[in-house]
Amino acid sequence: MDVVKILLLTLGGGLEHALNVYRQLKDLQLEIVEGGNVLINGISVVGKGTNSVVFKCRPEITKNVELACKLRRGDSTRSSFAPEGQFLHLANTVGVGPEVYAYYKDIVIYRYIDGIHIDTWWREASPEKKRIVVEELMSQAYKLDKIGLSHNELSRLEKHVLIERDLPVIIDFESATLGSRNNVTQVSNGLMRLGLKPPAESLRTYKRCLCIDAFKEILRFFLDQL
Ligand SMILES: Nc1ncnc2c1ncn2[C@@H]1O[C@H](COP(=O)(O)OP(=O)(O)OP(=O)(O)O)[C@@H](O)[C@H]1O
Ligand SMILES: [Mg+2]
Repeated sequence: MDVVKILLLTLGGGLEHALNVYRQLKDLQLEIVEGGNVLINGISVVGKGTNSVVFKCRPEITKNVELACKLRRGDSTRSSFAPEGQFLHLANTVGVGPEVYAYYKDIVIYRYIDGIHIDTWWREASPEKKRIVVEELMSQAYKLDKIGLSHNELSRLEKHVLIERDLPVIIDFESATLGSRNNVTQVSNGLMRLGLKPPAESLRTYKRCLCIDAFKEILRFFLDQL
């Protein structure tokens, strides 16, 4: 199917929006690829949010690089995806998030994650695998705290963490902010929703000192439950 038609059917917002997104894809020499488990108006895509539709995509020059293109919906409340691209780029500097490839007003392009949402993964995973994921996820949260980049939506891990080859990848930095350091707290709340008890005392200490010892205590408390 014609790309503009695909964009028109999936993004909404009329022909003007579809053409704008099309031009940005063309400028970056990227092609979107149909496929994925979510169906919008008969078109399969990788994911759908309130502000975006996520497609698989690839550079025109090479067919075997798998990327994800997060495209702004016509009815999005956000005027630009550039801040999200910048926050993701910042997260990448400490090894967090899918590696960003490029971003533009209506597009963020980053590595395609061949994974599943953490809540689905959690139901089947062994205690050992869960321990590795919890440790890795908490370490990523700690790294974000250290650079003062707050994701702000991590208490809903089920929407913002994908598991790829049994390792967690934090996605969707659209609500991120600079300055506060509460990712460890957010992830702890998220783990609670997956059935783990939170270490209230160590969390309070961590909030005050943001120190490695309190972080280690929090982590130990979670790991001991698995
Ligand atoms: N890099 C990726 N690789 C594979 N799938 C992805 C990737 N990024 C996002 N997705 C899928 O697309 C969905 C929507 O992405 P995202 O959460 O970034 O969009 P959103 O518009 O911010 O959504 P929401 O309105 O829920 O906040 C995700 O839940 C996930 O299933
Ligand atoms: Mg979002």
